[in-house]
Amino acid sequence: MKAIDIRNKYLKFFERHGHIVIPSAPLIPENDPSVLFTTAGMQPLVPYLLGEKHPEGTRLTDYQKCVRTVDIDEVGDNRHLTYFEMLGNWSLGDYFKEESIKMSFEFLTKELGIPVEKLSVTVFAGDEDAPRDEESARIWEEVGMPKDHIYYFGKDDNWWIAGEEGPCGPDTEMFYDTGKEPCNKNCNPSCGCGKYVEIWNNVFMEYYKNKDGYSKLKQRNVDTGLGLERMNMLLQGKETPYDTEIFKPIMDKLLELAKVDDITSRRIVAEHMRSSIMIISDGGRPSNVDRGYVLRRLIRRMTRHLNKLQINLDELSNLIELNIENLKEMYPELANNKEIIKQVIIEEKDKFIKTLEHGEKEFGKAITKIKNERLQKIDGQTIFKLYDTYGFPPEVTGDLAKEQGLELDMEEFKKLYKEHQEKSRMGSEQKFKGGLAGETPETIAYHTATHLLNAALKVVIGKDVHQKGSNITPERMRFDFSCDHKLTDEEKKEVEELVNKWISESLPVTVEEMKKEDAIKSGAECMFIEKYPDIVTVYSIGTVSKELCGGPHVKNTSELGKFVIKKEEASSQGVRRIKAILEK
Ligand code: SER
Repeated sequence: MKAIDIRNKYLKFFERHGHIVIPSAPLIPENDPSVLFTTAGMQPLVPYLLGEKHPEGTRLTDYQKCVRTVDIDEVGDNRHLTYFEMLGNWSLGDYFKEESIKMSFEFLTKELGIPVEKLSVTVFAGDEDAPRDEESARIWEEVGMPKDHIYYFGKDDNWWIAGEEGPCGPDTEMFYDTGKEPCNKNCNPSCGCGKYVEIWNNVFMEYYKNKDGYSKLKQRNVDTGLGLERMNMLLQGKETPYDTEIFKPIMDKLLELAKVDDITSRRIVAEHMRSSIMIISDGGRPSNVDRGYVLRRLIRRMTRHLNKLQINLDELSNLIELNIENLKEMYPELANNKEIIKQVIIEEKDKFIKTLEHGEKEFGKAITKIKNERLQKIDGQTIFKLYDTYGFPPEVTGDLAKEQGLELDMEEFKKLYKEHQEKSRMGSEQKFKGGLAGETPETIAYHTATHLLNAALKVVIGKDVHQKGSNITPERMRFDFSCDHKLTDEEKKEVEELVNKWISESLPVTVEEMKKEDAIKSGAECMFIEKYPDIVTVYSIGTVSKELCGGPHVKNTSELGKFVIKKEEASSQGVRRIKAILEK
């Protein structure tokens, strides 16, 4: 069995149990600048977990492309991945614990054929916020889980929430026993020694948490997530995901090309290349901030390890092709995006090579200073500056320092690095929180303005203009669109005037649900057709704009204020970017 077979079995199984298969949302959440990447299958479903009606009903299933970046520096070991696929099934106020656990048990034991003895489960032990989950434990026993394979743990292990605020609840997690020796007599699924590997998480989402504490949601939901790469690895009896068909061809090729082998470097190259491919295919581009910076780091780290393996960087193009070839059965969209993916990665690699050259110069300056002062060590500030400003990794600094007979003050560097990480972690939590806490009146207004801008560009520039992305904060909007030239001042003025004309006409914003095909036939605009479910919501603004969109929007364009274009610039090849604001 391969990963794709597990995915197909999963979706079919839940389809048989009344679920509708919905498409994976893009890795880059649309119109949602508050999160970096889609990190879990539930993320695009938050409004529906909170009670909004989903057009496809109350039982859904999908495979979701996910990127999690907290562990980026751990990649290279035998388990951490930045990109992964999560299989999920949801009950939106439909079934709850009993049916959920029964289905999971049936899927694991019957469909995947895992012997019960290999399975253990954990349930919530209870605290002042929510009761001990004896119900789940009882259901597990009833379906056939041996009592001594059922463990109770507290919030750290058995409570799930994305970030600090949002829908959440106790969960029951399923573990696979790898057969390794117990680490000690208290070895259990939460000890992390590697004997037990978590394979599936069913969250019983009936609470909402905000800064005031917990409250009950309108409905009781189930949100489950099963990590595909991990399950695939276990079923194939492999020690790491790199030994499965997902990575093996690329790992072998790297071994063939490497002049100096290092398995950690090969894993980093294979993993980061796959993540970069997936992110770029969904519209991500390298930059110095947020998600663009994550992509930049992935490509740079990959390049550095290609260097370490002494693989000629001219091989990169072939390696990307091989990787796409290997992945395209699972992600057919990659075939169409092959050229742009190669272009983006190779351009970023070239930039990095230049950065390394700059970094070496800076390093030279630092060395002169240190030698003049007759010091033995390169101080942490310098290592950090080389790292943070010049993208010069401490390992490289270390190698060069050695050649000069110097040491690195890694203690101080680590301290600075930790402070920096702490700051960015707080930043991303803030972001996720923002996403779940919902939209503000400002971001809603900007969201409607992007539809007007999209429509105005089509009138002024031409029908071939299409949205390529957008980014909204309460202060401004950014809109990327396909266009082969820099807009002239007249064009910018015309676009601005047209949007303002529509705003002054007080056009109503209306929403309707329709079949995807009918929506497209009716001329509704959409960004990625394959990414929408069969029934879609379509927002219209008077008769000037019609777009497939999840909302929310203002009710009338008169709520928007004055639309002002602040900047028009290149975003990437063939894509222009407009920054605009709404003045009240
Ligand atoms: N949201 C839960 C998780 O990410 C279950 O899907 O683990």
